[in-house]
Amino acid sequence: MSKRNIVLFGPPGAGKGTQSAFLVKRYGLVHLSTGDLLRAEIQAETPLGLQAQEVMSSGELVPDEVVVGMIKNRIDASPEAQGFIFDGFPRTLAQAEALDNMLQKIGKPISVMLSLEVEEQELVKRLLNRGATSGRTDDRSEEVVRKRIAEYRAKTEPLKSYYEGQGKLRKIDGVGTIEDITRRLTKAIDG
Ligand code: AP5
Ligand code: MG
Repeated sequence: MSKRNIVLFGPPGAGKGTQSAFLVKRYGLVHLSTGDLLRAEIQAETPLGLQAQEVMSSGELVPDEVVVGMIKNRIDASPEAQGFIFDGFPRTLAQAEALDNMLQKIGKPISVMLSLEVEEQELVKRLLNRGATSGRTDDRSEEVVRKRIAEYRAKTEPLKSYYEGQGKLRKIDGVGTIEDITRRLTKAIDG
């Protein structure tokens, strides 16, 4: 089986976590979500978690060193992995360069960046909807949701050009049923 290292990209609420669950099963990949890892640190009340909590509830990004360190630990801990699916990472140019360096050292470069494209109105609707029913503090206020999207536009979206420059960007329409979108993603991966 060929090795696949996928960056699953897109704004807050685009469906990265939802779709990762299907892709992990189908391709036997290791799922690395920096958001999930940070929320686990908060849950466990570690020093890192306590530090990250405030930044996350404001909708801003946590420092690059923190997330790069977490990702490095996870990659080092999974030498047998068929491949990784990076969800919510990288989010800045510094993170993307750090990731390329790490993967180059182990000879497993990113194969594709799948960018889920969803417009802002739909993102806000999805996130506030989830905020009403589940525990994520950063989904509860429209102000924080919009701040997260603004952070994405300013610092994260430019990474599309970075991966486009490497010939790895694939844009995927992220609106439709969850099954439709899974089909679009698997087609892009297999094709
Ligand atoms: P993170 O946890 O990464 O959150 P996010 O990117 O802001 O977005 P979400 O996880 O909310 O969205 P998603 O794209 O995964 O969509 P989902 O599948 O959940 O980051 C949180 C915070 O941590 C950041 O703000 C930052 O502070 C910090 N952080 C994390 N990584 C960092 C990094 N690398 N650098 C610095 N800071 C970092 O779906 C959303 C909702 O929509 C769900 O309710 C879902 O059921 C629904 N949905 C999914 N698909 C569909 C569909 N097709 N139609 C309708 N609804 C749908
Ligand atoms: Mg997510």
